[in-house]
Formats: sequence, C-alpha cells, structure tokens
Amino acid sequence: MPGKRKTMGKIALITGVTGQDGAYLAEFLLKKGYIVHGIKRRSSLFNTERIDHMYQDPHTEKRNFILHYGDMTDSMNLTKIIHDVSPDEIYNLAAMSHVKVSFDTPEYTANADGLGTLRILEAVRLLDMIRKTKIYQASSSELYGLAQEVPQTEKTPFYPRSPYGVAKLYAYWITVNYREAYGLHASNGILFNHESPIRGETFVTRKITRAMAKIALGMQETLFIGNLSSRRDWGHAKDYIKAMYLILQQDKPDDYVIATGITAEVREFIRKTFSSAGMDLLFTGSKENEKGSIVNIDDSLFIEKAGKEYLANIKKRILSNPVMVRVDKGYFRPTEVDQLIGDATKAREKLGWVPEYDLDGLINEMVSSDLHLMKKENHIKNGGFKTLNYFE
Ligand code: NAP
Ligand code: GDD
Repeated sequence: MPGKRKTMGKIALITGVTGQDGAYLAEFLLKKGYIVHGIKRRSSLFNTERIDHMYQDPHTEKRNFILHYGDMTDSMNLTKIIHDVSPDEIYNLAAMSHVKVSFDTPEYTANADGLGTLRILEAVRLLDMIRKTKIYQASSSELYGLAQEVPQTEKTPFYPRSPYGVAKLYAYWITVNYREAYGLHASNGILFNHESPIRGETFVTRKITRAMAKIALGMQETLFIGNLSSRRDWGHAKDYIKAMYLILQQDKPDDYVIATGITAEVREFIRKTFSSAGMDLLFTGSKENEKGSIVNIDDSLFIEKAGKEYLANIKKRILSNPVMVRVDKGYFRPTEVDQLIGDATKAREKLGWVPEYDLDGLINEMVSSDLHLMKKENHIKNGGFKTLNYFE
C-alpha cells in the first residue's frame, strides 16, 4: 500500500460523499493526505450528517475537504465539477442504492445509476483527462441476482433481478467499454453487501440493529421484517472502502470481487443481533406466519449492553408477549436475490486486500452504536423533550 508521501496532495473526487461509503472513504483519503472533493445533492433538509465532523468552513484557507452541489442526472453540472476539480481519482459512489425502492422508481434509478456513470466517463473523455484521471465504479453483487454459480467470482455470469441491478449492469459494462475503447483507467469494484453503524436505516441490517435496541429499551414492540431466508455475504464498510482505494492504486485497471466469503440468512443476522445483547431468540412457524420470540435472557450480558434499568421492563414484556419479530409481506420484493456469497481470491492475491471484520464483529459494533443512540433518544424523551420519529 503506498505510503502517505506518495498520496500527499493527490486530488480525489467522490460522488455520493454523503452516503455510508462516501463518508468512510473521504475520511480515509484525508488521512492519506489527499485533497478530497465531494458531490452532495441539494436537499430541503441537511443531508450531511455522516460527514459533518470533517466539514471545513469555506472561509478557511487551504481547505482539503471541499463540497460541491451536484446530481448524477445533470451532465453539465458533473462535467463542470470534473473540469474545475481536475481530479487524479474519481470514486463514483452516488446512486439510488435501495433495491426495493428501485421497483418504485425504475426510470430514475436507470438515469442516476446507469446513465450517471456514463456522464462521468464521458466527461473525463471530453475534457481530455483520460491519461490523468482514474475512475472507480461502485458495482454491486446485485449484478449476480439469480446467481448462476456459487460462490460468485469475476467470471460468474450476471443475472440482475431488479431495476437497480439492471441499471448497475449498464454502469458495469459502460465502464469496461470506456476502458477498452479509450484506454481509460476505469475499474469496477463488485462489492458484496457492506454495513456499518452509519448504514442507511432502511437496509435490513441497520433496520434490525435499530429495532433490537429500541425493543431492549422498551421503545418499540415488534420488528416487522420481509424475507427471513435470503442470504447475504455481509462485510464492514470500513474494510470495503480500502479495497476501492487499492483498486485505483494499480498500474492497470481491472474488475474485482470484494466479499468476505461467508454467507448468512437474514434470520441468522436477527438472532445474532438479539443474542449480542443477551436475548436468545427462537424462530417458529413458517412463511408469513414465522415469528421470533425471546426464550431466554442472559441478565449480565443484557445489563452490560443495554443497562440495568431496562432489565425488569423487558422481562415483564416477555411474560406478557415474548414475540419480538413478525413477517410483513409488504417488505417482499417482486423478484428476490436469494443467496449471495463472493469469492475475493483475486482481490486478496492482486490487491493484498483482506477484511479485518467478521460478521460477529460487525454486528457487535452496530449493536453498541444503536444502543447508544437509542439511550440518548430515551434520555431526551424522559427529560421532557420531543424526539424525532423516523418511520422505517
Ligand atoms: P448510500 O449510503 O445510499 O449513499 C448513496 C449516495 O449517493 C448518497 O450520498 C446519496 O445522496 C447519493 N446520491 C443518490 N442519488 C444521487 C443523485 N441523483 N445525484 C447525486 N448523488 C446521489 O450508499 P452506499 O451504501 O454508501 O453505497 C455506495 C455505492 O456503492 C452506491 O453506488 C451503491 O449502489 C454501491 N454499492 C453498495 C453496496 C453496499 O452494500 N453498501 C454494495 C455494492 C454496491 P443523499 O445522501 O443525498 O441521499
Ligand atoms: N431492506 C430490507 N428490509 N430488506 C429486507 C427486509 C426488510 O424489512 N426483510 C428482509 N429483507 C431482505 C431483502 O429482501 C434482501 O434479500 C436482504 O434482506 C438484504 O436487503 P437490503 O439490506 O435492502 O440490501 P440488498 O441486498 O437488497 O442491497 C444492498 O446490497 C447490494 C449489494 O449486494 C444495497 O446496499 C445495494 O445498494 C447493494 O448494491
């Protein structure tokens, strides 16, 4: 991995800088001495919570973290930013990234996620920056969809199963095409699911860790969930953004699978989440009637994680109704990706990339963070102040 001296003063442009990966990547590149430019969308509410700790006042001299308003659907805006910033590296992370929502907004998803990638590539070509600027494209394991092979590698055929997956398929191939047609240093990272304490609240892992924290503290009755049997290869976003960086440090552009190689069911993720705070869940029933009930509490683990003051309440709750998890068909998708598991051998051998987190480590970190967050909410509420309600 190149040292700080080699990366000092390099200019990176991150689209989607306000997202989970964008925030971690910006922090990582700033530590390496990069000047980081990020594109954020105009929004009627603040949308920079994940990057606020890095914010630098525009009046500060010699800023190394600079934000620009932009949108993946606006070619001229993207071209102007790329012209003005003149980046050494572009990390194209911006996307409508929610698979279920892409069924509701298929045209917009195609525009932002598919054509948006073309806009970046074409801007670099038209601005005559092919020799200067390297491009990372945030490709996805959703490309495999109805997986044709287990585990999935760079050679596994794609079979996307959602408007999101199909839009990302276009983005993948247009990146390959610009590399082959014009010699652009453009690479795809085919990243499997990666999560963290700052994961969007409506992705399944964060929905589960938030719900468990609220249930433990008596702030929520039930976790309503969709397909419990789908399997994902979940890693930690902090590990995965390092792979993005490594991909752009290679002499030659290429495509890489980034995954842990371990897959687990949504059901298992829920069970592990509850048990990491001392609550043992048992699933009974099938299909829409499946339920998850607490069958045992490890008092000392619960007290350590959630706090002594919440123990009596959860015990009382279990006596009256131990069912904490129920299925809601509303969360099912018209076409599902049943099982994903990646083989990151190429990334390990060529990039030297190895993830540091395993699933238990990831869950522990997310659980601690969400328990902390919900305790804060509880204190605010108990102090007589209004807390925000987020409906997930
Ligand atoms: P995320 O948290 O949803 O962040 C997406 C980012 O894109 C946000 O900054 C969002 O802005 C921005 N964005 C959305 N539409 C935009 C538009 N039209 N113009 C400009 N910006 C727009 O996603 P993530 O988890 O960090 O993922 C980063 C990228 O990797 C995405 O392309 C995603 O599809 C891909 N990916 C993610 C995973 C994963 O498991 N996390 C796996 C494989 C691939 P707002 O903050 O304003 O919404
Ligand atoms: N979101 C959500 N909410 N998913 C649920 C729920 C629920 O209540 N219940 C079950 N699931 C299942 C989904 O049906 C899916 O099979 C699995 O949990 C994971 O769903 P998400 O967490 O929404 O992620 P995803 O796998 O669809 O997509 C994520 O990973 C992709 C990489 O494979 C996103 O980050 C994509 O942007 C990314 O490309």
